[in-house]
Amino acid sequence: MKKRLVIANWKMYIHSPDAAKKFISLLKRKSAGLSGVEAWVAPPFTLLPVLKGVKLGGQTLSSYADGAHTGEISAAMLKAAGATFVIVGHSERRTLGDTNEDVHAQLAAAAGAGVVPVLCVGETARSADGAHFSLLEEQLASALRGAQSLAAKLIVAYEPVWAIGKSAEDAMQPGEVEETVIFIRKTLANILGRKEALRVPILYGGSVEPQNAATLITDGGVDGFLVGHASADLEQFVEILKSCRK
Ligand code: 13P
Repeated sequence: MKKRLVIANWKMYIHSPDAAKKFISLLKRKSAGLSGVEAWVAPPFTLLPVLKGVKLGGQTLSSYADGAHTGEISAAMLKAAGATFVIVGHSERRTLGDTNEDVHAQLAAAAGAGVVPVLCVGETARSADGAHFSLLEEQLASALRGAQSLAAKLIVAYEPVWAIGKSAEDAMQPGEVEETVIFIRKTLANILGRKEALRVPILYGGSVEPQNAATLITDGGVDGFLVGHASADLEQFVEILKSCRK
């Protein structure tokens, strides 16, 4: 049975080592009996070395391996700090200037170092003429260009930018999520091949809360979630995990 995957993107919500350690130990206790679902956590970089007991990831990375790049963190540095995965191409990083080219290079750097890339794609707005589908196609094609061999480890997160950081009522409806996931899967099949595309977990992110997690997981056609604000609230995050039980 393929487990569902729920990734907590803590962004800058949880700061202190003590609060983070307590969160993880309570998370482990409260989610211990849940079957068919796995929780991973992407804390701020500074917390990676102090946390244990759950799969950890970075929220971004440098495409460079080393050198004069002030403030940057490489894939190997992430790995040494305890990360097994990394979020790549999050819209909040794209807003800060990361281009499709940068995302492509970061993805290759992560995969090359054996760190699982969680590739984020998503449109800033939906349009009646379906232009958002072309944008998603472009984001996927450019990120995965020449990287067919990545398929074995790749995870894709569909995060419509307009639905991020709001509340369950503003999130995408399950039917629209399902339609978009089918489109993403088809696009992945064109790029990676059908068999490989079927293996890639596709997560949804964008105002996932306890109120909408159950319908999104049953009717949205996704393999799990990438959760922002609700992942920094233990009770809410555990409720979301419960919705994903199999
Ligand atoms: P919210 O869950 O706060 O909308 O954030 C989603 C997100 O950006 C996860 O990466």
